[in-house]
Amino acid sequence: MLVCVFYLILRALDTVEDDTSIPVEIKVPILIDFHRHMFDRGTEEYKVETVEDYDEYCHYAAGLVGLGLAKLILASGLEDSFPDWKQISISSGSFLQKTNIIRDYLEDINEIPKSRMFWPREIWGKYVDNLEDFKNEGNSTKAVQCLNEMVTNALIHVEDSLKSIASLRNPAIFRSCAIPQILAIGTLANCYNNLQVFRGVVKLRRGLMAKVFDRLKTMDDAYGAFYDFSCMLEAKVDKNDPNAMKILNRLITIKKVCRENGVFHKRIAAYLSFSAIPEYADCNACASTGHIVLSVS
Ligand SMILES: *[C@@H]1O[C@H](CO)[C@@H](O)[C@H](O)[C@H]1NC(C)=O
Repeated sequence: MLVCVFYLILRALDTVEDDTSIPVEIKVPILIDFHRHMFDRGTEEYKVETVEDYDEYCHYAAGLVGLGLAKLILASGLEDSFPDWKQISISSGSFLQKTNIIRDYLEDINEIPKSRMFWPREIWGKYVDNLEDFKNEGNSTKAVQCLNEMVTNALIHVEDSLKSIASLRNPAIFRSCAIPQILAIGTLANCYNNLQVFRGVVKLRRGLMAKVFDRLKTMDDAYGAFYDFSCMLEAKVDKNDPNAMKILNRLITIKKVCRENGVFHKRIAAYLSFSAIPEYADCNACASTGHIVLSVS
């Protein structure tokens, strides 16, 4: 299976050179998600009890895709290796995997014939007796608090995610690796504190995705996008949430990394304008000191 996915990714990378009608940035995330579903089939009995189990599951399910992809990219000679590239590639694959696991709570729990449960008991057990209790309206507050803890956990991988894409020099490879990572932090920002995760499908707005596809050219754009999605997340943090301090500290670190490494160009100064999104109006202050803006139409 892995080999097949890698082959397809390589084909996709090839294709981008001569056929611009098939954007590789669209294909790679689809392939990674496809792989996740194929992998899941074989692991119906996998019990995710501890956070360590969860990390291990993500390591095998998607982390190895990240590692395999990194190996192929290095083998292609288009990119050079960098320190700790193995661990960093696995971590950035895990970032995508955790994001999908968070977003797909409802789809996974409603899976027929049998629920799929990837959220670790060590986390959800603090809030309810059974993972499916989050579906019920009586437990909405707990559901959202647990969701927020899951998002906070996923953010551990952001620094590795940034390091992995910052290492890339080939523009096509950079875009195909960076876009899924940016959409992942965008998805987390969207899911955070969002009860809709337990009620239906939570998707990034098409306009926002289109802007990312359209405008992401350089690592500075990526730092800018991560910075702005961090602002978006920050604006959503409720001070009474049990993990508020923890996530705020993580966001401070991420924003610092982005500011210290990225040059926020004037050119993209009007790139991400959260002021255009009512639910992120609070982010204006943040956006005016920051920079990127994906104005959402
Ligand atoms: C809420 O969760 C608790 C603990 O898991 C459970 O006993 C209860 O039945 C749930 N409430 C509803 C309305 O589902």
